[in-house]
Amino acid sequence: MPKSVRDILLMKNSKKITVITAYDYTISQLCDKAGVDILLVGDSAGMVMLGYDNTIPVTMDQMCLFTEAVSRGRQNALVVADMPFMSYQASKSQAIENAGRLIKSGADAVKLEGGIEIKDTIHAIVEIGIPVMGHIGFQPQTTTLQEGYKVQAKTRDTAIRLIDSAKALEEAGVFSIALEMVTREVSKIISDTISIPTIGIGSGPDCDGQVLVVHDALGLYEKIKPKFAKRYLELSSEIVQAIGSYKSDVVSGKFPGLEHSFSIDKSELERLKKELE
Ligand code: KIV
Repeated sequence: MPKSVRDILLMKNSKKITVITAYDYTISQLCDKAGVDILLVGDSAGMVMLGYDNTIPVTMDQMCLFTEAVSRGRQNALVVADMPFMSYQASKSQAIENAGRLIKSGADAVKLEGGIEIKDTIHAIVEIGIPVMGHIGFQPQTTTLQEGYKVQAKTRDTAIRLIDSAKALEEAGVFSIALEMVTREVSKIISDTISIPTIGIGSGPDCDGQVLVVHDALGLYEKIKPKFAKRYLELSSEIVQAIGSYKSDVVSGKFPGLEHSFSIDKSELERLKKELE
């Protein structure tokens, strides 16, 4: 049985929550096997899987496809899917319809970027029975508005605004809140103030859980290397090396060897040759 939203809620103050992004079947299976609690089908897929410069172009169709693949690969983790830019901002009915599409694609819950200003939208989605994870602090979908990648809650006023947003989202019914690039002190205040789990990314050690983009954790994405993302492997250089070895084996004739090929029965081959003569 996969984890439920209730299981995640019960982890607050008892066990740290591990979240990692996944966008395809194979990585989903491996992360699930490693025991993560939540697989997040993040719209970061737009950058690391599709090569966009940011998450803004990501569509609902793309998110549904990634979500289907991830849900097929998981056995134990909860699957949360991101609602992409402009899939929930136009109206509550648009938000409900698109949240429903992600659930029909295999997600257990959806995640929306935004604070107090989208609390009614979140409430409408939760009301119809779809669990929601909030996402405040740095919000990649509005990078332009926020003048690029900037640490959040560095002043008293911005910290108060963020704390108010966290409280409003809790009231609206979210089951957890992702905090992105929030100062560690303010993350701790938020985590101590609300009764649902906080999931930090670049927000220090005092959140109730942590999330990493899987391409950062495995050292696969070279374009941006955020200070907060620990790289547990440097797979990109290993992949380039491995594929380079494959190429030189093909060129030199070392690959494929006998062990990589199939052969016809000797007597059949004789018959064939005779017939062809
Ligand atoms: O899209 C994503 O990967 C995310 C995480 C950075 C939290 O939203």
